[in-house]
Amino acid sequence: MSKTNLIPLLVVLLLFSCRNNETNSYDNYSSWEHYAGTPSGVRYSALNQINTENVRQLTKVWEYSSADKDEQNRSQNQCNPIIVDGVLYGTSPESKLLALNAATGAPIWIFDPESVDQSLSEDPMRFYKVNRGVAHWNDGDAERLFYNVGRHIYAIDLKTGTLIKSFGDNGRIDLQLGLGRDPKTFNPFVASTTPPVIYKNLLISGSRVAESIDAAPGHIRAYDVISGEQKWIFHTIPQPGEANYETWPDTKAYEKLGGANNWAGMSVDHQRGVVYVPLGSVSGDFYGRFREGSNLYGNSLVALNASNGEYLWHFQTVHHDLWDRDLPANPNLFSMEIDGTMTDVVAQITKQGYVFLFDRNNGKPIFEIEEVAVPTLGLEGEKVWPTQPIPKLPQPFSDQYFSRDEVGGLDSLEHQRLLSIYDKVPYKKLFDPPSIAGNWIFPGFDGGGEWGGAAVDIEERVLYINSTRLPWLMEMVAVDQDTGSMSLGQRTYVNNCIACHGTNLEGRGEDYPSLIDVFDRLSEKEIRSTIENGLNMMPSFAGITEADKKALLEYLKAPKTIKESKEPTSVKEVNGLKVPYQMNGYNRFLDKDGYPGIKPPWGTLNAVDLKTGKLLWKVPLGNHKEVTIEGVEQTGTENYGGPLVTKGGLVIIGATKDSKLHAFDKTTGELLWEAELPAPAFATPATYSVNGKQYIVIACGGGKIGSPSGDSYIAFALD
Ligand code: HEC
Repeated sequence: MSKTNLIPLLVVLLLFSCRNNETNSYDNYSSWEHYAGTPSGVRYSALNQINTENVRQLTKVWEYSSADKDEQNRSQNQCNPIIVDGVLYGTSPESKLLALNAATGAPIWIFDPESVDQSLSEDPMRFYKVNRGVAHWNDGDAERLFYNVGRHIYAIDLKTGTLIKSFGDNGRIDLQLGLGRDPKTFNPFVASTTPPVIYKNLLISGSRVAESIDAAPGHIRAYDVISGEQKWIFHTIPQPGEANYETWPDTKAYEKLGGANNWAGMSVDHQRGVVYVPLGSVSGDFYGRFREGSNLYGNSLVALNASNGEYLWHFQTVHHDLWDRDLPANPNLFSMEIDGTMTDVVAQITKQGYVFLFDRNNGKPIFEIEEVAVPTLGLEGEKVWPTQPIPKLPQPFSDQYFSRDEVGGLDSLEHQRLLSIYDKVPYKKLFDPPSIAGNWIFPGFDGGGEWGGAAVDIEERVLYINSTRLPWLMEMVAVDQDTGSMSLGQRTYVNNCIACHGTNLEGRGEDYPSLIDVFDRLSEKEIRSTIENGLNMMPSFAGITEADKKALLEYLKAPKTIKESKEPTSVKEVNGLKVPYQMNGYNRFLDKDGYPGIKPPWGTLNAVDLKTGKLLWKVPLGNHKEVTIEGVEQTGTENYGGPLVTKGGLVIIGATKDSKLHAFDKTTGELLWEAELPAPAFATPATYSVNGKQYIVIACGGGKIGSPSGDSYIAFALD
């Protein structure tokens, strides 16, 4: 090409890149500078060097191990790392913040909160180590990273990896403070799992709180990125004088109950200045006697003015939730043609397996949503909401009914055993209220849609989402607080521990250890510390009084079988509220070898055409190749962590229990490529380019559902 030809081309390129910077300075689909790719949270990449033609040549180019997984195979890494100027920023199982050369995996710096921060050793929440990523702020001169350790958000200098002490209280802010309530009035467990988002000079954060009736409020807060000062608060449980306050009983619930928290991440529309916030259920999760009403903004997608937290619109996906149907992932922002007009829309997935699609301007549904009548006979004192919103389209990406024909079991003996469980508690209806007899949660408590979230091809308007297909069995236990029938220790156990450790300390599946003979394994000091501080996935129970804790420890030494549950006659008060029931069991319905007690597929990857609302394809995701079932080529596996979709025609996802990274043809669902990983990648991959070379990276943290733990990031590229 001659020089004269080159000049106009350069001008065009320059103009194009300037324009690109202007319109796409936030949503740059060729980089991965934000959790879920861009502020719009679509997990879409415009990179296409790796594509359907050459993906089979993809090879591992680097592996970095932070060498901090635990030996009990309980540590995890759910991080979706970000990549800024050729450097990857991600977290490790021990909540260290890592800066790695994104082309080689070589460490640049490592920030270890334990090493710099003496006061951390007094933070009871620091043992809670779930972290899904990092937020990045850049004003042209300064650059900061924000990430969570326990209940704190840390500000870290991007270049040096050092704590920015001028931010907040010596470099961090405490999410337990500034909620507008005395922390002594709620369960002290306030942490954060999914990273905060950035809007201009604001850091907007949600929280994870306890599931018990006295959970902390889940209000959304914005902080100044420089000073850490709290700038605004949005009350997710409205207070007198605020919109939608009337969806609550007139019993000052807002002073006593909590939850309605955002643990799943948010998405930001920088052009509009709007943050889209998906919220979880209100406390207590499974018994709603003290919150008669629809309970806004529980289980709602809420649009807020990002500058000041002002309420714009909402849509509630479950009214008066009794099933822990938290909205599980950040929504996806993109545009599509509706009735001939290009419209900005927002898609929200749910644990139940629905996709809700709204006009971003006003929250108007794009497809019709029907209020469907549901069963209303609940526990004593419960006023079950009579209808629930079910979108007519898009088609659900998870199966909605668990029929007797679907009961699994790898041999006939096991099949009979599982059938007998099913026959005791037959599946009734969608949104069957909690009861002592028990009911099925299907898709399970973890979804359906989960924290990995959905990827949206912003050109084709197709949504990609993985889903686990596993029923969970839920039973409620009446807690008779009459000291005659339950000792103080047993009552404390029932009120706080049974959901995870079982009615009789037997534990629940692989994730929740048995506490039988726990004193033979651990010292009293260790057990006390676990109760007070939490451990990995176990939240802290710092709120239990010393007298109750002593009695609980005695009870763990000599537990008694809990008598058959009947309607309670006397109940304990929490914040003046009498809690007569506890949920007994995050019970995954598994066979004796730990495989789902339902016929396969146990995990699927799904493509939903958002233009028509139709499911384009559904394929099994993952494979237990050691299992042979007649007529089943691929079992699918339980899965955690989300997909990404690329202009190169690929859907890339780890997530499966069989420790693989997979690439699918986004048009057909055909599996094109797989790679073996050292541990399951229960995390979402990222893709980016350094010096013209495209990479795909994923955290391999394992440590859930009986899998080995891992502590590596692994990157792939075309060699
Ligand atoms: C929300 C679920 C949940 C609740 C509720 C819960 N735990 Fe745990 N617990 C866990 C998990 C998960 C672990 C495994 C933690 C790890 O090692 O990573 C655990 C571990 C423990 C351990 C260590 C056991 C071992 O063998 O290592 C003890 C002791 C314990 N829990 C006691 C309690 C007590 C007492 C209560 C009630 C006050 C309680 N837990 C409530 C989830 C829970």
